[in-house]
Amino acid sequence: MKEKLLEMLSENESGFVSGEKISKHLGCSRTAIWKHIEELRKSGYEVEAVPRKGYRIKTRPNTISPHEIKVYLQTEKIGQELTYHESLPSTQEVAHRLAQEGAVEGHVVIADEQTSGKGRLGRVWHSPIGTSISMSIILRPKVSPQKAPQLTLLAAVAVVRGIEKTTGLQCSIKWPNDILLNGKKIVGILTEMQSEPDYVHSVIIGIGINVNHKREQFSSELREIATSLAIAKGEEVSRAKLMSSVFYELESLYEQYLLEGFDVIKPQWESYAISLGKRIVARTIQGTIEGVAKGITNDGVLLLEDDDQVVHQIYSADIEIK
Ligand code: BTN
Repeated sequence: MKEKLLEMLSENESGFVSGEKISKHLGCSRTAIWKHIEELRKSGYEVEAVPRKGYRIKTRPNTISPHEIKVYLQTEKIGQELTYHESLPSTQEVAHRLAQEGAVEGHVVIADEQTSGKGRLGRVWHSPIGTSISMSIILRPKVSPQKAPQLTLLAAVAVVRGIEKTTGLQCSIKWPNDILLNGKKIVGILTEMQSEPDYVHSVIIGIGINVNHKREQFSSELREIATSLAIAKGEEVSRAKLMSSVFYELESLYEQYLLEGFDVIKPQWESYAISLGKRIVARTIQGTIEGVAKGITNDGVLLLEDDDQVVHQIYSADIEIK
């Protein structure tokens, strides 16, 4: 009932919805409506009630509950199924389990807080409560497992676009999938796969975005290398709006990718890439290589030319731009 009421008020956000209309539509008494309005207020919605006019949402809480996300959702697949938890060790783990149990493509697992968020190369990812976006998106592309890294690059493009459309801020991508703003990390993407040697069961794209962190919420160490959208913009950003925007961009790019392949995604990724053409150091598990980043292959592999003009293919590494 509370969700239906929220839906009604959200559909008519610029005007008032009369008590009579609500009570007819939801088949409940005026007293019941009042009770649900009070519940909405407790969840952080500022609801105006004016005699003879009705009810109107004045301000919304900056939450990422499924009903808040659905207000902005414009997709057909991604985000239509949402699993929300206030706190989780990691959204990746839950998404893996749901994928194994047959979750549909586009199912997204969201948490308001992660207590052991997973980063790339075994690192920890911090997602403090109420400030971040932490989500894992389940995709089921009919491509070979070798092509899965392409989806990481595709996701990075979708996030950069979603951020730009929602906030006007322009981010760049450091290969393979670090998204930077003013030279500091703002988004991390971790792509994991459930597959057989020649068949992909699912690809789980984990996306962590620093949205409304204040400077003091980063440790002194992180403050040097990480930032948030709110710090850059000087005001809070709606997490639900941003999430829906990322879903929309991801769905468009993914459809394009399934129809036309990575060839159409690659130039879009390159247009945001900051490492290309620059001198970089790549730290891989096999060792460290320094040289110039020449480009990426169609499989999303980084081509690095060292000082002896030998071109190395880098599949996974930590990149430092010199
Ligand atoms: C990186 O190291 O840059 C990747 C960080 C990925 C973090 C996201 S947050 C949502 C999802 N759940 C996790 O535990 N990790 C990913």
